[in-house]
Parts: sequence; structure tokens; C-alpha cells
Amino acid sequence: MIFVTGGAGFIGSNFITDWLQHSQELVLNLDKLSYAGNLENLKPISDHPQYIFQQGDIADEKLITELLVKYQPRAMINFAAESHVDRSIHGPDDFIQTNIVGTFRLLESVRDYWNQLPSEQRQNFRFLHISTDEVYGSLEKNAPAFKETHQYQPNSPYSASKASSDHLVRAYYHTYGLPVLTTNCSNNYGPYQFPEKLIPLCIHNAISNQPLPIYGDGQQIRDWLYVIDHCQAIVNVLEKGQVGEVYNIGGCNEKANIEVVNTLCQILDQQQPRTDGKSYADQITYVKDRPGHDRRYAIDASKIQQQLAWRPKETFESGMAKTVTWYLSHFDWVNNVTTGVYRQWVEQQYS
Ligand code: NAD
Ligand code: DAU
Repeated sequence: MIFVTGGAGFIGSNFITDWLQHSQELVLNLDKLSYAGNLENLKPISDHPQYIFQQGDIADEKLITELLVKYQPRAMINFAAESHVDRSIHGPDDFIQTNIVGTFRLLESVRDYWNQLPSEQRQNFRFLHISTDEVYGSLEKNAPAFKETHQYQPNSPYSASKASSDHLVRAYYHTYGLPVLTTNCSNNYGPYQFPEKLIPLCIHNAISNQPLPIYGDGQQIRDWLYVIDHCQAIVNVLEKGQVGEVYNIGGCNEKANIEVVNTLCQILDQQQPRTDGKSYADQITYVKDRPGHDRRYAIDASKIQQQLAWRPKETFESGMAKTVTWYLSHFDWVNNVTTGVYRQWVEQQYS
């Protein structure tokens, strides 16, 4: 069995659904069900005989220990986090609590469990920590892409909290020998992403006849990866990664934000044209910039490509077309996650 945390969020739910299509192993999913966690994301597999859900917090050592002892997993994959940069700017507390304190408590529970395993299981156990390229800070326009050895220079409360968790994971390997792996991935997009993030927000706003908000000059660059390609990279790292190593994951798809939103509008114009015959691009609106906004991220994925034979399958164009199709055909999901609390967030962030 594998133990997944944060599996009701965007990447975790895609990971579990994808995993169950390829594996006979059980998956235990522990999730706090924060505003970003949604059991609807797991509806297609909620009755699957290999799937178990437990609501809970990664910081709850008693609960985590009980689950570890009961289910005896061979691996844990830690997706659980507060993940939205803008929210970390408005209120960093939850980010410190979950991403730093929560990861620490989780590591303590896992260390205790791992110490008591028989030697072969101890050797085979893995703790895979899912992290982000944002820990490396911002790149100049022509600077080489982030390698695993790039200096940590986090710039937002979110990225600083993720950087902190990465350091704790690293320390548990060096100090206690806990068999850890860390992945640092670039921006994901695809089904079930909460519409606070750029791509689903713009799809939702476009079809709701709302402005498509572009921060600052829209020239900030992100390196986009389709979520299922990320999930498959995680499987490769879990099964073939070298203990104690870090793997950068990215799509080699550097795009300026304005380019991303224009592409989105073109796809929407084809898939669901506006009734007045105009382009959705007319809804693009430049708004106040994000404080401390990182200018550019780019991942050098040569290590995972060469050592673990991973390559993304989707191009940016094919992934975006799939994503738009998914959102247009999952109206109920979008409507359910864009109610009261979501509207308050939008009001606070964009009014
Ligand atoms: P998300 O916000 O969609 O999901 C996070 C999940 O964690 C939610 O289900 C939430 O309920 C759960 N959670 C939050 N606090 C918890 C706690 N204390 N205990 C248990 N569960 C808790 O995030 P995501 O986009 O799916 O990101 C998943 C992971 O991948 C995060 O660690 C994030 O830093 C990392 N990451 C994300 C991206 C991206 O583009 N989305 C890119 C690289 C890395
Ligand atoms: O790079 C990996 C990271 O990608 C992950 O670690 C984070 O969890 C994930 O949220 C994402 O962070 P970003 O801040 O890059 O993603 P977001 O979708 O919030 O923004 C993408 C870019 O678009 C960024 O430059 C900010 C900009 N933006 C975002 C929003 C929400 C806008 O211009 N307008 C918006 O309304």
C-alpha cells in the first residue's frame, strides 16, 4: 500500500486516479479537506476497492501513527500543502502551519514508524516529498534553467514555507537516514485545478463573462506541465529514484502569462464561441501586480529525463485543449467549487 497526503487536491487527486489505472496496490489518502481539498475530485474512484480515504491533518501525529501502524505502507507521498501564492501574501499563517510544522510532524511520525520496520521493509521504504520550482526564486530572462543544484532563494511566504519543508526532508535523510526523495516541479495545469490559479480562473471567468485578470505587464514566464505528465514523473521517481536525491520536473514549455491567456482564448473561441461573435481575448484586463512577483521560472529536467527515462507526453497545445474541454464539460464541478467562500476570495483579491 502507498500512503498519499493531500490527495483530494488538484495534483494528488489526479495522481491517485492515474495510479489506480496502473497498479494493484492499495492507496490510503489522508486529506484535511481545506478549501482546496474536494472529494468530488475523487468521485470516479471513490468506490474503488483499492482506495481508502481518511480525513485528517498531516500535523496530527497520533492519527498519522495509527494509520501507519494499521496499514503498513511501503511509501508515503506528501502532496499536502497550502499552495496558492496570492493567499500566502494575504495570510501566511496557514502556510507556516501546514507546509513547515505539518511536514515536520509528518516526518516525525514517519521516522518513528520506519525505525520499527523489519530490515528489508526499512530498506525499501520511501518518503517522497512533492515540492516546487518556486524555491529557487526568480530567473533573469536569459539565465539557464533551474538545475537541482540551484541556490534556494524563495521570494514569497508560500515558496519560503516550501523551501523550509524541503530542508527538513533533506535533514531527515542526512541525520536519521530516512529514505527520502524530493521533486521540484514547475507549474501544473489540467482537470480539477481549483479556479484560483491562472488557467482555471481564466476559463471560468471567460465563460462567466468576467474580466481575465493579468497581473502587471503579463510578461512573467512560467514553465507549464500537464498534470498527468507530472504524476507519471512522480511514479518514476518513486520506483527508480535514488534515495536522498532531488529531481526537477518541468515541461520545457516556457510561456509568458499573456501568451498563456491568449492561447486559452483561442481554444475557447473554437470550442465554445462567444454568442456576440467576439473573441474571449476582449475580456483580458491588466490589473495591479502581485507583490514580489517572480519574473521567470524554468526547469532543466535533464536529470530525470536521462536517469529515470521520463518525458512529458503532452505538448502545451494538446494539454491546453484537453484542459479547456474538461472544464467546459464539467460545469457542475466548477459551479460547486465557485460558491460562497470562493466568491469571498475573488472579492478580496480582485476588487
Ligand atoms: P492543492 O491546493 O490543490 O491541494 C492541496 C491539498 O492538500 C488539498 O486537498 C488540501 O485539503 C490538502 N491539505 C492542505 N493542508 C493539509 C493538512 N494540513 N493536512 C492534510 N491535508 C492538507 O495543491 P496542488 O496544486 O495539488 O499541489 C500539491 C502539491 O504540489 C503541493 O505540495 C504544492 O506545493 C506542489 N506543487 C504544485 C504545483 C502546481 O502547479 N499546482 C507545482 C509544483 C508543486
Ligand atoms: O511553479 C510552481 C507553482 O505554480 C506551484 O508551486 C504553486 O503551488 C502553483 O500555485 C503555481 O504558482 P504560480 O504563482 O506560478 O501560479 P498561478 O496560477 O497563481 O499564477 C501563474 C502566473 O499567472 C503567475 O505569474 C501569476 C499570474 N496570474 C495569476 C493569477 C491567479 C495573473 O496574472 N493573474 C491571476 O489572476
